[in-house]
Amino acid sequence: MSEQRYITFALGKGRLAEKTLELLEGIGITCEEMKDKKTRKLIFVNEELKLKFFLSKGPDVPTYVEYGAADIGVVGKDTILEENRRVYEVLDLGYGKCRMCVCGPASARELLQHHEMIRVASKYPNIAKDYFYNKKHQTVDIIKLNGSVELGPIVGLSDVIVDIVETGSTLKENGLEVLEEVCPLSARMIVNQVSMQMEQERIKNIINRLKEVI
Ligand code: PRP
Repeated sequence: MSEQRYITFALGKGRLAEKTLELLEGIGITCEEMKDKKTRKLIFVNEELKLKFFLSKGPDVPTYVEYGAADIGVVGKDTILEENRRVYEVLDLGYGKCRMCVCGPASARELLQHHEMIRVASKYPNIAKDYFYNKKHQTVDIIKLNGSVELGPIVGLSDVIVDIVETGSTLKENGLEVLEEVCPLSARMIVNQVSMQMEQERIKNIINRLKEVI
């Protein structure tokens, strides 16, 4: 029999990765080395199961998976929508639940009703563009920010923002509110399109075992 090749996982750094490792542990896929918070290592191997794992910035996960540098990725639906890569989305993992919303001061609600030309700040310009142009048919000026997007309407950079809302406390503490919901979000598993054919058995087995514990 030919030597089994490694199946490689790309995990988005941070909270999602911790949850993902817990979930994988539940189906017997472990990687002790990766739990060591002090390590500077970037790639981890489970020789017994012929698996490799690496952590990357969330928005890079779909890139690694599209190019086949990783067979499987775990990342938020927000990133999948924003990056729009050619990958298969195979599983909703059910954690990291939050919503993509249009938010702003209550006074901005009216601006969303009359197709006015408004300024929209977001870390997710593609999601914002798709929502306003294709769903609402409203022409807007989209301004890309890299974080703390709630500042936009507060300092007068934009009328509204398109951003993730989880508990709603960031909005509340800054006098903003949800004006419209764009879509629900959660962590998803994505798979490289070629790997899905070539390693169908092993990958489907992982997906099916995960389905049982979700
Ligand atoms: C995210 C998001 C909101 C906040 C929402 O920001 O962009 O700002 O969390 O969470 P809440 O509804 O529970 O308050 P993150 O903490 O990732 O940092 P960032 O603003 O730098 O993107």
